[in-house]
Amino acid sequence: MDNFTFYNPTKLIFGKGQLEELKNEVPQYGKKVLLVYGGGSIKRNGLYDSVMNYLNEIGAEVFELSGVEPNPRLSTVHKGVKICKEEGIDFLLAVGGGSVIDCTKAIAAGAKYDGDAWDLVTKKAFASEALPFGTVLTLAATGSEMNAGSVITNWETNEKYGWGSPVTFPKFSILDPVNTFTVPKDQTIYGIVDMMSHTLEHYFHLTENTEFQDRMCESLLLTVMETAPKLLEDLENYEYRATILYSGTMALNGILNMGYRGDWATHNIEHAVSAVYDIPHGGGLAILFPNWMKHNLKVKPERFKKMAVRVFGVNPEGKTDEEAGLEGIEKLREFWNSIGAPSRLADYDIDDSKLEVMADKAMVNGEFGNFAKLNKDDVLEIYRMSL
Ligand code: NZQ
Ligand code: ZN
Repeated sequence: MDNFTFYNPTKLIFGKGQLEELKNEVPQYGKKVLLVYGGGSIKRNGLYDSVMNYLNEIGAEVFELSGVEPNPRLSTVHKGVKICKEEGIDFLLAVGGGSVIDCTKAIAAGAKYDGDAWDLVTKKAFASEALPFGTVLTLAATGSEMNAGSVITNWETNEKYGWGSPVTFPKFSILDPVNTFTVPKDQTIYGIVDMMSHTLEHYFHLTENTEFQDRMCESLLLTVMETAPKLLEDLENYEYRATILYSGTMALNGILNMGYRGDWATHNIEHAVSAVYDIPHGGGLAILFPNWMKHNLKVKPERFKKMAVRVFGVNPEGKTDEEAGLEGIEKLREFWNSIGAPSRLADYDIDDSKLEVMADKAMVNGEFGNFAKLNKDDVLEIYRMSL
């Protein structure tokens, strides 16, 4: 195991009816609140009204930024920063999925920065200060509700990067599974793929003696795989939604990955695809991850075998580690196919015309990946396998 420091200051408030906690939490940070949300799902399902009622009850002065896009854009971050600076906003409340939360993080830090918020995203400058913000999560997927990460797209340059700082943890996050009942089937599937992918990014590492962490990752994968098909048949089932919501948070809040560094190359490769084609993040991961695995199977076949045996029930008898590992990868693909996730770039009408462009974007900081270092040829090969 490697040395580590665990730090996560986000207060997690989970369960039915917990939205009311807004009345206790928000007043701690001030009166002027910027409410940040997406394209309208919270207006259609009534959450907007409930949030506004609580904010009105505590006498908050509410400003609004709506229309945050899936794959949130820098232009929207700029709009939010402008409101914060002009109106002297005290606190931001993100109500939505990962995109709304990520956008809120960039606004919160951008509001305390003199230059362009893009400097923070591109790491030209470090976010050492941010306005406080909280979240009401509506979609189980990214883990952004309990981590410091944020992913922003500059649509003018087709660049999409992840960034974060210790000041971009939410102060609190309210997770009521009921608020995820209206997430459509396709977005529910993308979320499931995303949280499984986060766990798999952790799982593929080179550190020895991580038995407890491995078992936690395996448990999360098994739980999600057992629950997902039931949830997809019964989208308003509280217990299934609760299991998936909690799993999504746990997959990327730092708890699973203490004591080692996961890989994270597949996320980088996917961000380059959605920077160019604006596809859903989870959809891109479903296509790319099994191919990253096949491409890197030889790096440490026993790791793939471990996953195959423990998570996918592969019988290793009479098989090499590589053979058993490959069977596990195929079972992962079968599982994602079975829940309706995409499996080829062609599913999003992506052909080979921009593979070089995407690979160059993925390579912007040079070789990457911790389990296996990828160069441009590796990236191109994974894209070709995914066509
Ligand atoms: O915009 P609205 O109208 O709210 O609709 C959204 C959006 O169209 C809809 N939705 C959300 N909650 C709903 C709902 N529809 C009905 N009922 C509800 N309760 O779902 C659509 C997708 O929302 P989005 O927030 O984009 O999805 P997700 O949570 O998957 O976030 C994706 C973004 O997060 C980034 C991705 O790259 C992508 O940009 N990521 C952020 C990470 C992080 N901060 O740690 C890590 C991830 O790996 C990921 O890269
Ligand atoms: Zn992800």
